[in-house]
Amino acid sequence: MKQRYVIVGAGGRHEMYRDAILGPYAAEATLTGLCDNNRGRLALSAGIIRDKTGIDLPVYEADAFDAMITKARPDWVVITTKDSLHDAYICRAMELGCHVITEKPMTIDAERCRRILKTQRQTGKQLRVTFNYRYSPPRTQVKDLLMNGVIGDILSVDFHWMLDIRHGADYFRRWHRNKENSGGLLVHKATHHFDLVNWWIDSTPKTVYATGRRAFYRPDTAQQQGLTNRSERCHDCPEAGHCRFHLSLADNPHLRALYLEQERYDGYYRDRCVFSEAMDIEDSMALAVTYANNARMSYSLNAFMPWEGYVIVFNGTQGRLEHKCEESVYINADGSVPGALKAEGTWIRVYPHVEPAYEEPVWEALGGHGGGDELLLQDIFRPETTQDPYRRRAGERDGAWSILTGIAANCSIQQGMPIHTLALVPELDAGSQ
Ligand SMILES: NC(=O)c1ccc[n+]([C@@H]2O[C@H](COP(=O)([O-])OP(=O)(O)OC[C@H]3O[C@@H](n4cnc5c(N)ncnc54)[C@H](O)[C@@H]3O)[C@@H](O)[C@H]2O)c1
Repeated sequence: MKQRYVIVGAGGRHEMYRDAILGPYAAEATLTGLCDNNRGRLALSAGIIRDKTGIDLPVYEADAFDAMITKARPDWVVITTKDSLHDAYICRAMELGCHVITEKPMTIDAERCRRILKTQRQTGKQLRVTFNYRYSPPRTQVKDLLMNGVIGDILSVDFHWMLDIRHGADYFRRWHRNKENSGGLLVHKATHHFDLVNWWIDSTPKTVYATGRRAFYRPDTAQQQGLTNRSERCHDCPEAGHCRFHLSLADNPHLRALYLEQERYDGYYRDRCVFSEAMDIEDSMALAVTYANNARMSYSLNAFMPWEGYVIVFNGTQGRLEHKCEESVYINADGSVPGALKAEGTWIRVYPHVEPAYEEPVWEALGGHGGGDELLLQDIFRPETTQDPYRRRAGERDGAWSILTGIAANCSIQQGMPIHTLALVPELDAGSQ
């Protein structure tokens, strides 16, 4: 039987779910409502749907969420709003009898996380967190190799993620730039990274020690670059011609329609100055993490790099696995394929203790996030046709563990000491379930 879906949040990310339901998965899924606080973005998406399919989709403003659930009778609510709103919609949807699919991060702090876990337990509804990175072939391949014991038991991990000055800079232009909206990059972005590690090494974070600061996206960097006459946003900035971070919403048809033409409804500016004082997230962070299985990880995230991607090394009892992954650069919702892999920049090398080192031919696929988006959609909308040997389907506990490293890191940066994750969300202790 067809499953009924509604989507909350009509911004950049909702397009993937909308187009999947109305396109390749139309036989399995039907879209019965769309909700957002911005009337303009609702009308834009409804118009696109009408043009593509002839369907007049009912749309609802944020204060009519409950009414949407009553009228649209969804089985599933898909949540693609900004991060700080996920918890409220997740909990309300489950209380009203719906299953939930939420974008990452599941939420942004410990209190909200505890509320989600409690509501899920009380309602018994399903909650899926869409970790598309798990589904991309090279990351699944690393899981396959580690699961098969290619380097024995994993004792330590070195993980370094680079965000470049194009895509990385984009987090400093809009709501992500304030922790109250996103939890900072250690939650908003690194939820992907920490989820991958939890999944790859099949363990959970125990203690986290972190340092971090905003080192690059600062007013003094703009001064050094001779940008002395900046505006608070690119659209009217006198430095437009000189600034290599300038983003012209007007010149990109997708960004213009989605953001510039809708800002009069809610004052959401998509192109704030990346050197502005008015932000409180870090752009350079370093962590030391211990895991329940006794593995150790050193991790860094820098958001002002010349290339985008990561290098990760697993050190095991029988050798070492090194994996590098370079991603193509993009601006979120600019109409390009986000996070597609640059084939020549991705490799996996295994260094056994005794035998010679060798390179594994990398599993490949086309599409968003290294081919992960497409496989994720199949797994969501056609679950009965997909097997899950790698345990890629993630629920509320995976969602919670994936944010806890970053949430603990935020506390550690503030308090200057290591933080125990279970002190933040005791419900995750297996013994108390
Ligand atoms: N997995 C991935 O690779 C990936 C990629 C991009 C975004 N995301 C996630 O998707 C989510 C949305 O990101 P985005 O880039 O689409 O952001 P966006 O700013 O483009 O869209 C957010 C939408 O939420 C709406 N909104 C704001 N307040 C609201 C309210 N009170 N009620 C309902 N809607 C409200 C905004 O009007 C906007 O349309 C984020 O959680 C982000 O982390 C995930």
